[in-house]
Amino acid sequence: MIKVANISKSFGKNIAVNNISFEIKEGENFILLGTSGSGKTTMLRMINRLISPSSGTIHLNHKNVLDIPVEKLRREIGYVLQRNSLFPHYTVAENIAVVPKLLHWDKKKIEEKTVALLHKFRLPKERLSSYPNELSGGEAQRVNLARAIIANPAVLLMDEPFGALDPVTRISIRKEFSELEEFKKKTILMVTHDVQEAFELADRICLIDKGKIMQVGTPKELLFRPANDFVQQFFEQTHFQLSVTTTFLNDIWSYVNANEPNNSNIKLDFAPETSLWKVIEVLTLNKKNDTQVNVQLKNDDQNKRATLEELMNAFVQYKNNF
Ligand SMILES: Nc1ncnc2c1ncn2[C@@H]1O[C@H](COP(=O)(O)OP(=O)(O)OP(=O)(O)O)[C@@H](O)[C@H]1O
Ligand SMILES: [Mg+2]
Repeated sequence: MIKVANISKSFGKNIAVNNISFEIKEGENFILLGTSGSGKTTMLRMINRLISPSSGTIHLNHKNVLDIPVEKLRREIGYVLQRNSLFPHYTVAENIAVVPKLLHWDKKKIEEKTVALLHKFRLPKERLSSYPNELSGGEAQRVNLARAIIANPAVLLMDEPFGALDPVTRISIRKEFSELEEFKKKTILMVTHDVQEAFELADRICLIDKGKIMQVGTPKELLFRPANDFVQQFFEQTHFQLSVTTTFLNDIWSYVNANEPNNSNIKLDFAPETSLWKVIEVLTLNKKNDTQVNVQLKNDDQNKRATLEELMNAFVQYKNNF
């Protein structure tokens, strides 16, 4: 859906993006992750032709973006800017209607879609006549998201869409968004510097530093098969938590030895899709670390039992063999 080939962009002597290539498949959630100034926004702006690359090519659906008229390109790509970009003199309804109006939708269709989207993003209907300065940061961000997806663009570019929010609101909007049909189906290129966020939403992550790609891969590939010291160090602080949230009982189960039940009388059942994080949480919060976990795998009627310690041993083996 998106193919970026050898893209570079310099501002004077400063090389903001340095020979970046990646491909994003249809329906994929691809996340550009990197620290401040690493070139993430610059990369997005080139895809949308807000700025032009110094060298390299970008294809959208097999067409060079330079050959697509800008208006058409902007309709095919929904863009959520890093900073709140609502028009201050337009109401919420008018802000959301910008692209539909360009597409000559009739009034009724615009109204229906807008109301449906507000409902999805849990904004009260009264907000339709509010102006951006009357919205909280979280509300404005929701309107931004609604505006970007109303015309059902094939591709969504999102630049730190949850960045300006407090951690609690951030997690709840992120969760709402990730549960939307649109999110699940669309091709999304999202920028963030929040590692947790990247791991929660990404099919694949592209970690960049100083305009260069350090590694492209699934969250687990970055964790368990880091391409270089930079990647390793980038996740050092959060490595354990990220690893156990992205690893499921299913993954490690073949490394667990089938056990006879021990004499503990507490037994917990977990579905195979349960994350290791969840299992640890339940077992440790209840101080039941000698409790056996009982899991029945779907395609396998082997019912194994394991204690937390045995699970962690299996996890280490899984990680080492990844
Ligand atoms: N229009 C511009 N003119 C000159 N330099 C620019 C311009 N836009 C970006 N830069 C420089 O390019 C580099 C990358 O900037 P960019 O905005 O892409 O970073 P970023 O990864 O999005 O950072 P952040 O996480 O802080 O948003 C920075 O050094 C920045 O100063
Ligand atoms: Mg940026």
